[in-house]
Amino acid sequence: MTVTIARENAIAVVTVDNPPVNALSQALRQALVEAVAELDADAAVKAVVLICAGRTFIAGADVNEFGKPPQPPLLPDVVATIEGAKKPWVAAIHGSALGGGLEVALGCAYRVAVASASLGLPEVKLGIIPGAGGTVRLLRLIGSAAAVDLVTSGSPVGATKAEGLGLIDAIVDGDLRAGAIGFANGIAEKSLPQPISSRAVPAVEPGFWENAEKAVAAKAKREVAPLRALASVRKASETDFSDAMAFERETFLALRGSEQAAALRHVFFAERAAPRPPELAGITPRDIRSAAVVGGGTMGAGIAAALRDAGLPVVLIERDATAVERGLANIRAIYDGSVKRGRLTQEAADQRMAGVTGGDNYGLLADTDLVIEAVFEDLAVKRAVFEKLSSVCRPDAVLATNTSYLDPNAISEGVSHPERFLGLHFFSPAHVMKLLEIVLTEATSPEVLATGFALARQLGKIPVRAGICDGFIGNRILKVTRAQAERLLLSGATPSAIDAAMRAFGLPMGPFEAQDLGGLDIAAFQRKAARERGEIPFAPVAERLCALGRFGQKTGGGWYDYQPGDRAPKPSETVATVIAEEATGRPQHAWDEASIADAIILPMVNEATRILEERVALRSADIDLVKIHGYGFPRWRGGPMHYAEARGLAEVVAVLDRLAAEGLADPPCEGLRQAAQGDSFAAIAG
Ligand code: 3HC
Ligand code: NAI
Repeated sequence: MTVTIARENAIAVVTVDNPPVNALSQALRQALVEAVAELDADAAVKAVVLICAGRTFIAGADVNEFGKPPQPPLLPDVVATIEGAKKPWVAAIHGSALGGGLEVALGCAYRVAVASASLGLPEVKLGIIPGAGGTVRLLRLIGSAAAVDLVTSGSPVGATKAEGLGLIDAIVDGDLRAGAIGFANGIAEKSLPQPISSRAVPAVEPGFWENAEKAVAAKAKREVAPLRALASVRKASETDFSDAMAFERETFLALRGSEQAAALRHVFFAERAAPRPPELAGITPRDIRSAAVVGGGTMGAGIAAALRDAGLPVVLIERDATAVERGLANIRAIYDGSVKRGRLTQEAADQRMAGVTGGDNYGLLADTDLVIEAVFEDLAVKRAVFEKLSSVCRPDAVLATNTSYLDPNAISEGVSHPERFLGLHFFSPAHVMKLLEIVLTEATSPEVLATGFALARQLGKIPVRAGICDGFIGNRILKVTRAQAERLLLSGATPSAIDAAMRAFGLPMGPFEAQDLGGLDIAAFQRKAARERGEIPFAPVAERLCALGRFGQKTGGGWYDYQPGDRAPKPSETVATVIAEEATGRPQHAWDEASIADAIILPMVNEATRILEERVALRSADIDLVKIHGYGFPRWRGGPMHYAEARGLAEVVAVLDRLAAEGLADPPCEGLRQAAQGDSFAAIAG
């Protein structure tokens, strides 16, 4: 039973129970319509409370039904039925009232919520717009500016803000059911309020819509849904209710079948699958109540802030007293930045800082549950750190390395109780970036791996399980991206053309701009290490730029020139000369944005397929998450693997074959050819 009805004297309580999140499946929609009919016919009922069992109010339409033809009763009709009920319905909200869930609440005569509830229309995040009157009713209830904000951002608001906007009528303290029944008793004898659908449309200032369009377009870039959502709110302000509803529904249905919506749905489900690798089903993680970070540089400070943000007390270990002070100052600088940007009050920042203890004495770690190492990228230095940790930490303390490229198996040699060791690879800035690669060694126990995933949840990160190889998942693919970018340079494309093509594809920055920002020295250091291992990294132009001292913005020049105090990249004569010299004798090609994007993205897919074949990643969707959350790959493209599947793997193979024939990329690997046969990576992933 998805809906049950109880009577509390003159109040009927309709309880929705459709785990896990009370999504509006066909069965639930049907049951709600039947509940309205039953309660309309019951003379003893004066008002109705609509409440949900479990963790949340209705979290929206059932996303699983989106690939299929809509089944009646359709949600707009369900909302209209509730709105047309003869008795006043009161939505009693806890958890989240999202999308279709909020639309159902907007059909109710009143809305009350607990203080911790949140309400929103997140449809644009799924590449669609509300499809059951959200844009049309919201405008009438809370005004144009607030409606535009909620609908085009997709971000929910908390109950207090919702009350201020007029989105809810009251906040309930204590038990929601009892509070909502009390509220319903208070309104039961009153006449029904005017339904939102027949309320007047608020007036707007001249130029309001044009300004809103500019602001939304600037933020959305190539994402389609936010501007379509705005168009729907605008339509609601300019036509009558039923025309606006028809426009909204038509737009909703058109977007539902779009490529962007399919990509965003893919990411939605990937994000929910990644934290639960099947091998960890039923495994209980260790409790993490205290943490330490060794090394307070760029990464260590960010990791310490991330741990503090999750409420864990943190010890920061550095080499000596001066380094401790510097490390603490690095963390303080992060919090100062948050205060400056209005993300944190000074009081909250001080409180977080007060939870960090600095020192150079490993004895401070005797009772710490988790230690994350973020010292220099040097095997001997890291091993020495873990030797000390092995001698001072409890045998059940979890020990982790944040190494980018070193082999965690090698780092953990000599660690006592090696089953407690794993890689926790954060991305810079670690307190901001959502991705956490969780790397298991030959010895990592399932319990410790599960602890890594539980920690990611505590920190609000997206965890992806990774096996060991050079660069794990993300940086291994990044190496291919960079090598491809240089191959293109030597065959006729310029840095600006390549960067522009990648931005046009949807990345926030091209590969050369990104290197100038981060510094060319980091990759140079990695290439040196690779050469020492006997590898031959391909970066002929980058090597020459480094030899010229062109390390990026920080040295006034890298792939581009920079004027002092100006971060705008200017094409560089010096770089053009180096490229021309390195390209001597190589065939030159004509490149446009699409062919550049193909020559960079599809080799990434090829490398990612090898990563899948080697089981370094478990699922192609995990690789998508790594690129989206660690490297700015556009979410609306669904990640490189989804992009390749959506494009057709046979075509991907054909393009790579063509590029390979011209010496512009490696040929497709066997796994990719095999996946192309079934047009899916499913065949080579578990
Ligand atoms: N449809 C189907 N399943 C859903 C769902 C939905 N709308 N929302 C969540 N789920 C599923 C998840 O896939 C997951 O399933 P699993 O356990 O099998 O993996 C389970 O519910 C729990 O989800 P979370 O792990 O995300 O649980 P949390 O407690 O962390 O978060 C939540 C709960 C805040 C409700 C979060 O799930 C969420 O944001 N959901 C999406 C809400 C949304 O986008 N709604 C709009 C849908 S579109 C719409 O309504 C169109 C309408 O206008 C017509
Ligand atoms: P960093 O140079 O900014 O910081 C390293 C810190 O470690 C310094 O403060 C140093 O004093 C300290 N340190 C060195 N030896 C120590 C010891 N024996 N005991 C205690 N402290 C010691 O380096 P960064 O960038 O923070 O990198 C740290 C680690 O994180 C490296 O392994 C790196 O590969 C990895 N990493 C770096 C990323 C980045 O974007 N910078 C991203 C992800 C991982």
